[in-house]
Parts: sequence; structure tokens; C-alpha cells
Amino acid sequence: TIVRISDDALARAGGADKLAAAFEKKGCEVHRTSSWGMHWLEPLVEIDGEGFGPATLDDVDAILDGKSDKSIGTIEDHPFIATQTRITFKRAGKTRPLSLEDYEATGGWAGLKRARQIGSEAIVEEVKHSGLRGRGGAGFPTGIKWDTVMKAPGPQKYIVCNADEGDSGTFADRMAMEGDPFALIEGMAIAGEAVGANQGYIYLRSEYPDAIRKLNAALELCADIIAPFKCEVRVGAGAYVCGEETSLLNSLEGKRGEVRAKPPLPALEGFLGKPTVVNNVLSLQAVPHILMEGGAEQYKNAGFGRSRGTMPIQLAGNIKHGGLYEVGFGITLDDLVNKIGGGTASGRPVKAVQVGGPLGAYIHPDQFDIEFDYETYTAAEALIGHGGVTVFDDSADMLEMARFAMEFCSVESCGKCTPCRIGAVRGVEILDRIKAGGRERDVIELAPQMHNTKKDSGRDAGDEIGLLTDLCETMKFGSLCALGGFTPYPVMSALRQWPEDFTRNPELVK
Ligand code: NAI
Ligand code: SF4
Repeated sequence: TIVRISDDALARAGGADKLAAAFEKKGCEVHRTSSWGMHWLEPLVEIDGEGFGPATLDDVDAILDGKSDKSIGTIEDHPFIATQTRITFKRAGKTRPLSLEDYEATGGWAGLKRARQIGSEAIVEEVKHSGLRGRGGAGFPTGIKWDTVMKAPGPQKYIVCNADEGDSGTFADRMAMEGDPFALIEGMAIAGEAVGANQGYIYLRSEYPDAIRKLNAALELCADIIAPFKCEVRVGAGAYVCGEETSLLNSLEGKRGEVRAKPPLPALEGFLGKPTVVNNVLSLQAVPHILMEGGAEQYKNAGFGRSRGTMPIQLAGNIKHGGLYEVGFGITLDDLVNKIGGGTASGRPVKAVQVGGPLGAYIHPDQFDIEFDYETYTAAEALIGHGGVTVFDDSADMLEMARFAMEFCSVESCGKCTPCRIGAVRGVEILDRIKAGGRERDVIELAPQMHNTKKDSGRDAGDEIGLLTDLCETMKFGSLCALGGFTPYPVMSALRQWPEDFTRNPELVK
């Protein structure tokens, strides 16, 4: 009997290691695979590549004796898996992450081989043709970025993978790196081939120890295959802002992780001042498939509007069926949250969904019909970002959520520009004042310890809300990078859509 149990960090946190040991003790051959991404079922056991389901140590005997009632049928046929379009995560649940044999048997290195045959310009054309856009959040066309680096003069260029996945509620980079590390390395080697770079760096957050271990092991195993391209893992030190590409480059150079002004773009002056491709894990992970014969066309055919291909969406927060769901763009939040996710884990009504991490807007169930697409979200004053979907039930206090956004920004600000460094602190203070008075009274009497302006501001809730709106405008348009510039999204979306959480007179919110 071959038993498959994931060695993904989430499954391990749920007891997968002990479960694997228990099956081994019973004489089974245990394969530690990547995770299928059905997090609510982890640790998930699969017997002989067919059925089984979630299990604890107490279930081992019953499963092997065929007496367990926990079967969910053939895993691949489960509706959560069967309804996906898996390209970036095509090996999820199926292969052993560090097995070169498994990787090759599932089309590994075919993209790199073909890339080497067709050469630089044709690779860039393929990536352009696929319509792949940066999956870190901004959605910039990857092929155009590569074109810029390819055409930049100079003998030394670099490929940098941004694996500093800091957004709350996101875990797709982690799962990709832990579950299919060779695919990321192959994507980077293809990028190197395209732009003429022989050195790559994976800037990986220290909070992902399993991914660090696996990528280092994978790099050692495939060094000869990717040669002359070389690649190293560099571990971050916990600053959210180091996920911003210029701050990341500073950190990579051993400097303080402070944002650089753009221009110059990293594509022209990046790591050590040389032309550098900086791409997110998911962007690079999609590349080996795109470079396979017919892969670009297949990738392009999934999607919606100008958002081509698939997005690995991460369902998190207060949701019944949380996990990784890869699908072509165009899906609605109603489908994602209510149908696929099964609604809230608490069973209470959904109040809000934050899409795109801590800098993403809160979306009201009234807007659950908008399509998952870069342009549609921008038009709705929201962003899809890195594809994190975090669900909140009706017990969420949206003023507290807005305050959290400002506080997060104040803590994580790199300090380089004033709207973010000072604005976020003032934002927390305004929200505290609104909380102290505005929800009960229109006229706010400040508690003495909260005075930072006058003893009694004389300002009513409307004034404070006006001030908050002004501040958000300033942060949005005056900040140097997305941290300060996007914090207004969660704040203003919370204020606009749940004014009753800010003041008992919602008329004050225009
Ligand atoms: P951006 O729009 O400034 O740049 C996007 C990318 O395109 C960059 O790599 C930039 O260098 C490149 N680029 C722009 N114009 C170019 C040109 N003409 N030629 C070549 N390359 C060009 O956005 P930014 O600040 O890099 O990212 C903001 C996004 O980051 C937000 O949308 C947010 O969702 C996301 N984000 C993601 C997080 C995560 O954990 N993955 C955390 C926080 C924010
Ligand atoms: Fe630094 Fe904030 Fe300005 Fe970004 S917006 S450069 S994090 S101070």
C-alpha cells in the first residue's frame, strides 16, 4: 500500500509527520507529497493514489482495514479540485517536492529545454503571447519587463525572485516553493536564458523555514541541470516592506530595507545597479508551463479581459473550506466565498471580504458579482493583489479593521516618505477619536490622553471623517510606494461601505 501524505508546512502543523510515521509503522510505503491545497482537510491521507480523506492517528487502523467512514472518494475528483484550472499548481498533491524523478515524469525541464532551443527573443515573445502579468500584485506584463531587461545594455544582469510573501491571508508562494521547488528554479533559469542573466537570487522570508530548506535542497539537486545559470536563496529578516522590489534589492545588497525612488526601474538599474528581473514566485512558477510547446496559447486561453491565464487564489480567514484554488480570471467572489468556500466557518453571515492582503479593499457582499480581474477591481477602487481572499463574518467591526490598516502601515513603514511615516500614525489617532466619540455622539469630546491637537477639538464626527478622507487622499497620491499608497484602500472601503460602524449618523460619510 502506498500512502500519500503532504509534507507542506500546514499539513505538518496539523500532525502530518506523526501520521506518516504511524502508517510506516504499519508497513506502508509512505510518500510525502505536496499539498492538494484543501486546507480544511489536512492532514489528508491518500491511499494508492485514489481515495481517502482527513485523518488523525486514531483513524490509521480503520483506514487500513477498510472500516473508516472518513473517505471523501478519489481526491482528484473532489469538487474543490475538479473545478479548478491548475497550471501553476499542476503538480500540487501529486508529486514529491524533492524528487527529480517525479518532476521529470510530469514534464519538468521541458520548458527550459525548449527555451534553450528557441533563444532569447523568442522566449520573451512566448511570455508576451501568454499574457502573463506580475502575480505579486501589480499585474505588470511579465514579457514587457523581460523585454526591457533583455534590451538593457551591459554584460551582467540578474534574476531576483521576490519570495517575501508578506500579505496577510496569502500562502500561494509558500505552497509553490514547498510543493514544487524545481518549477520555480526552472522558471528562473528560463528568465536567465531570456534576458542573458547567469545569476539568480530567491529572496525568501525567514518565516518560511520549510520553503528555505526545500529550495536549498532543490538547488543542490538540480545545479547541473540549470548550469551555467546559478541561483542562491537569501533569507529576509521580517520587514513587510522588503517585499517592495526596491526595498528588497537594498536588503539583498546588505543595506537597510528602505524603498528607492523609481525611476530608475530595477529592470534597468536593479541589484548592484545592474539590469534585473524582479518577479514574484507565482509569475516565475507559471513560466515553465508557458514555455512548453503550446503552453503560451493554453495559458492565454484561460482568463478574462486583459487578465489572461490563471490565478492561484487563496481562501482564508473565517471560511469553511479554506485553501488554494487556482482558476482562470473572471470568477466572482460569490462563487469563491459562498459556493467553493462554503461560507463562513462560524456559520454566521459574511460581512466583508478583504481581497489583496492588508492593503486591499474590503468588499461588501453587494459587490460579490464583480469578476476577478485586474481592471474590474481597479474600477471598483479595489485590488486583487497577490490573490488573497480573507473572509469576515458579521461580528467584524470595520472601524477596528480600518484602524488595523493604519496601525499596520505605521509599524511597517520604512520611514522614507512623510505621508506614510506620519500619516499612518495620524490615521490611527483619528480613528481612535472617532471610536471614542463618534459612534455614540456626533460631537466628539476627546479623552485627555488622546489630545494631540487641542483640549477639546470641538470637531464632530463629520469633521473627523473629513480629516480621515483628506489624509487618505494625501497618502494615496503622495506616498512613494504601495505601502503608504494603498493603505487608504482598506480604510476608505470600510468607511464608505459600513459607515454605521464609524458613526451613528451615516449621512456624515459622503
Ligand atoms: P508597480 O506598478 O510600481 O510595478 C510593477 C512592476 O512593474 C515592478 O516590478 C516595476 O519595476 C515594473 N515596471 C513598471 N514599469 C515598467 C516598465 N516600463 N518596464 C519594465 N518594468 C516596469 O507596483 P509595485 O510597487 O512593484 O507593486 C505594488 C503591488 O504589490 C500592489 O498591487 C500590491 O498588491 C502588491 N503587494 C504584494 C504583496 C505580497 O505579499 N505579494 C505585499 C504588498 C503589496
Ligand atoms: Fe517607505 Fe511608506 Fe514611503 Fe513606502 S510609502 S517609501 S514604506 S515611508
